[in-house]
Amino acid sequence: MIKWNDNFSVNNQTIDNEHQSLFKALNDFYEGLRNKASNENMSRLIENLINYTKTHFTNEEDFMRSINYPKIEDHIKEHREFIAKTEDFYTKFKSGKLLVSFEVTNFIKDWITNHIMTEDKQYAAFAEK
Ligand code: FEO
Repeated sequence: MIKWNDNFSVNNQTIDNEHQSLFKALNDFYEGLRNKASNENMSRLIENLINYTKTHFTNEEDFMRSINYPKIEDHIKEHREFIAKTEDFYTKFKSGKLLVSFEVTNFIKDWITNHIMTEDKQYAAFAEK
């Protein structure tokens, strides 16, 4: 499980709200795993997580463009790599080649928290200048 606290804030209410929704989607996924949800339900939870992540990334990239953030291309590359990785998990899960596990959940959780604390914090610092 992942809990929001103010250390994750990027000093932008809209983006903070989106990050909180992302945490919720990840926690729902984690709960599904813990409660041994059906494959159908797990599929839905993964889809929610991926779709919400894509929406957030698009909004965040629009924000970075609006402030002329100079490191936007590197940031977008990270977003794309993460989406590719999670879509790969999803494809493998759907074809029965991957058992969704706590390892997968932890990978996603670690990636999201590290990304906010390092990459997202950088545009936040730039926006404040
Ligand atoms: Fe909030 Fe760069 O993801």
